[in-house]
Amino acid sequence: MLVLGLETSCDETGVALYDSERGLLADALFSQIDLHRVYGGVVPELASRDHVKRMLPLIREVLETAACKASDIDAIAYTAGPGLVGALLVGASCAQALALAWGIPALGVHHMEGHLLAPMLEETPPQFPFVALLVSGGHTQLVRVDGIGRYQLLGESLDDAAGEAFDKTAKLIGLGYPGGPEIARLALSGAPGRFVFPRPMTDRPGLDFSFSGLKTFTLNTWQQCRAAGDDSEQTRCDVALAFQQAVVETLTIKCQRALKQTGLNNLVIAGGVSANLALRQALATMLAKFNGQVFYARPAFCTDNGAMIAYAGCQRLLAGQQDGPAIEVQARWPMEQLPPLAS
Ligand code: KG4
Ligand code: ZN
Repeated sequence: MLVLGLETSCDETGVALYDSERGLLADALFSQIDLHRVYGGVVPELASRDHVKRMLPLIREVLETAACKASDIDAIAYTAGPGLVGALLVGASCAQALALAWGIPALGVHHMEGHLLAPMLEETPPQFPFVALLVSGGHTQLVRVDGIGRYQLLGESLDDAAGEAFDKTAKLIGLGYPGGPEIARLALSGAPGRFVFPRPMTDRPGLDFSFSGLKTFTLNTWQQCRAAGDDSEQTRCDVALAFQQAVVETLTIKCQRALKQTGLNNLVIAGGVSANLALRQALATMLAKFNGQVFYARPAFCTDNGAMIAYAGCQRLLAGQQDGPAIEVQARWPMEQLPPLAS
């Protein structure tokens, strides 16, 4: 089955062609980062308008790369939520219009299920069951995964998502958008041990997270340095490193706890923050002690992309799922509401 995948939940237009027999044939992405950078964050209306401009040229591009014709496509998968409603509607209406014109089925895919399954596109895919740490700009969740659509939420952030904490903290210490890669870059030159920030909610049981206090702690430290006349680049790097270490160690402690609680030893990390090298390293070190393994997607498939939507959609379409012709999207959509695939 050849599936066209469309992703438009936020500030990236992602398009891909995935074939159930031949694997990923092509993927193309247009990132709107430059468009939103001047505003220090995503402007929803600008995002929607840009998706409209990029969608059809990207679809033509993937067809050309894969040497396929529109008539070869068997079904269309699009992100139906969670995300920005206007942006989601662009992908949904485009998918439904093409499906109608081409006489093929369309299916709305859950964005976080797309992220969760993205490591399946790699050479050594994880086997069910596993624990997944979903860390994106909008979500921080620990999930027990027993199969596609068989999800049990173990814990989540009570306030900011991990990616959101990176983005907001970066802004507070004068860095650009998106903040995750910026902080990661500065942290490479940071002096370990100069600052040590709290590891929120690790001193009590449970698998929930809270990152908003850490953001304020980081700002206070940076402001105290500046008030003392030290706003050097080195200090900014030291603050960035201390923040990143606090997030990474907090996530690692909670992952270890989730593995212990479930008795599983394989961990999948997915979403934009799973591109963070310090996080990958810390988790690999922790898992080595448990004879476990950490799985993640290539960096381009950690952040938003069309390939993960084509892949996730393909699995569900193969199982016979498809939508009616209505154009429906959801800003909020708990992943546990998804139906399980018959195994
Ligand atoms: O999954 P994603 O592309 O979009 C959402 O679904 O939200 O995640 C974007 C988030 C942003 O907050 C960005 O700062 C963060 O992922 N991010 C990173 C890194 N690369 C992207 N955070 C930490 N380190 C990175 N290397
Ligand atoms: Zn995402």
